[in-house]
Amino acid sequence: MGAERLQKLLSQAGIASRRASEELIIQGRVTVDGKVATLGDKADPKAQIVAVDGERIKVNTDLVYLAFNKPVGVVTTADDPQGRPTVMDFMPPKPRVYPVGRLDMDTSGLLLLTNDGEFANRITHPRYHVEKTYMCQIRGPVPKPAIRDLLAGVELDDGLATAVKAQVRIADQTRSLVEIVINEGRNRQVRRMMAAVNLPLEALVRTKIGPVHLGNMGQGKTRLLNSQELGALYAQVGMGAA
Ligand code: URA
Repeated sequence: MGAERLQKLLSQAGIASRRASEELIIQGRVTVDGKVATLGDKADPKAQIVAVDGERIKVNTDLVYLAFNKPVGVVTTADDPQGRPTVMDFMPPKPRVYPVGRLDMDTSGLLLLTNDGEFANRITHPRYHVEKTYMCQIRGPVPKPAIRDLLAGVELDDGLATAVKAQVRIADQTRSLVEIVINEGRNRQVRRMMAAVNLPLEALVRTKIGPVHLGNMGQGKTRLLNSQELGALYAQVGMGAA
């Protein structure tokens, strides 16, 4: 692959976002073959020793982080024994990526996929409280106590589930849109929370994971996470620069 800018190498190595990597270089914490690097320096990590705070970085230039707009009817699994369409049908063949957490078959919207196992583990680990935002289409009006109960916490069969935020965004005679934010990822959690407060859910879409927005990406489309998104996620799960 040859020489690359150091901040690119550091972010690919999962050290920090590119911006934070620049800071590390400016702070004199990055060396190439033992010499302190300056901003703009390049290095070939196969031929040279790139280190941060004296520790050699492991560069894996094959790391990929994707945002995907999952359509309804697509299963979040690498291989479905029942032969239904899976998220893998929408991914490039190489490098092989895996879903970060899951969206149930009837839910559409934002799903992250990566081949960075450590990143995937941390994003889904409850300890890091990565917020997920969902738009819920509800049949009919939403009584105020339902929102109050979601925020206070509802008892599910696997314990209390509390919304970080819940609010009615739009309502007319026939339907309402409720936006809910949770920071856990239990199986069908939003559906079960809505059922617990007797709100008839017609459709569920995940619109945001941490700093990553679904935006206007079409259904079935993927895009690469940008360095701001990746840097913010790294920081949130303790993979950013110290
Ligand atoms: N909550 C659900 O009910 N379904 C999902 O896919 C994700 C969260």
